[in-house]
This record gives sequence, C-alpha cells and structure tokens, in this order.
Amino acid sequence: MALQLNDDAPNFIAQSTAGKIDFYEWLGNSWAILFSHPKDFTPVCTTELGAVAKLKPEFDKRNVKVIGLSVDGLSNHEKWSDDIKETQGYKPNFPIIADQDRKVSDLYGMIHPKANDTLTVRSVFVIGPDKKIKLTLTYPASAGRNFDEILRVIDSLQLTANYKVATPANWKRGEDVIISGTVSDEDAKKLFPQGWKTVKPYLRTVKQPVSK
Ligand code: BEZ
Repeated sequence: MALQLNDDAPNFIAQSTAGKIDFYEWLGNSWAILFSHPKDFTPVCTTELGAVAKLKPEFDKRNVKVIGLSVDGLSNHEKWSDDIKETQGYKPNFPIIADQDRKVSDLYGMIHPKANDTLTVRSVFVIGPDKKIKLTLTYPASAGRNFDEILRVIDSLQLTANYKVATPANWKRGEDVIISGTVSDEDAKKLFPQGWKTVKPYLRTVKQPVSK
C-alpha cells in the first residue's frame, strides 16, 4: 500500500552525490523533503533541480534538508549537475540519490507503472523530525513542480506542529490563521489572550502566532 500521512518514513541506505547516506542518520533532528524526478538530462527536471538549488537557503532557514532521487547513476547525476549550473544558474547543492536498483523508489512507491514502468514520477515527501510522513505529492512527468508551494506548506506544517491552529486556503507566512476546531472558546481565551474574530462558530481567525 502507498505511504500515507503519519506513516513512518522508511529508512534506507543509498549512494548519492554526497556519498553513501543512511537516511535516518542524515536526517538527524531536521525536517526533510525527499523528491524524485523521472530522468537526468531532461528539460523539466533540469529546471526543477535548478529551482530547488536556488531555494536551498529558504529550506535551511526552516531546518529542512533536501534530497533528490532518480533511477539514473551517479556519473550522470554529476555530469548533469554542470548542465543545471550552466542553464539555471544554480548547481544542485543537496544530495541526489542514484537509485539504479530502484530500492528507494519501490520503498516510497515512486514508480507508477501506468505512468511509466521504469522511471519515477515526480513525488514529494515532506518528513518531520519524528520521521513521519507529513505530506505527499505526485505530479506527472510533464508538470514541473511549484517549490514555493512546498515551502509554503512546510511553513504551515511547522506552525501547526507547535500551535493549535490550521491555515486557510492560499495562506502565506504572516497572514491570519484559523483556531483549531478542537479548541473550545474557553480554552481559546487562554491560548489566544489577544482575542480572535468569530466569522462562524466553526471559523475563528486569529493573528499568526510567532515562535519566540
Ligand atoms: C522532463 O523532465 O522534461 C521529462 C522527464 C521525463 C519524461 C518527460 C519529460
């Protein structure tokens, strides 16, 4: 069965452009995104890996480690990295797993045989410091992913891990959030002493809590 939210992220040992990686050891106490791309030296993947390399400081700020994967080998990953630097302006600055035996792809269900029986689809897994799956995304080969959206949802996940809130449609960091439905008005008075807005009894909005 496909991995689902709050499942344990399976551990693995794999070769990558940063050497041999034991996933759990590499993860430590960080958050992570593990994402697959179908094939090296292909156009959409080239733009995606450049985009992620450019955003790396944003992932670092959020304590999120980034790791890519395809079923191509290490020497291709390395040669292709130079093309990514040349065409996108950023060289991949995170490990890329060389999953030629598909061990990790199979473990994470990244090969969807009805899409392609040998190449990985565009999967994204956000994994928490507790090593549980916090988010999964699956895109087809023809659609490059929006990595700003992945950062946005990480902001939401990190906020809701610490506060009894949820985030509305299209929310961005700094905007008002929703008080969790499990919090009574009585408890909300203690949690949000500055007050909140009741739009409906089930829709109460409040300023985004800021971590100290
Ligand atoms: C691409 O990255 O452009 C791509 C990869 C695999 C199949 C189709 C397109």
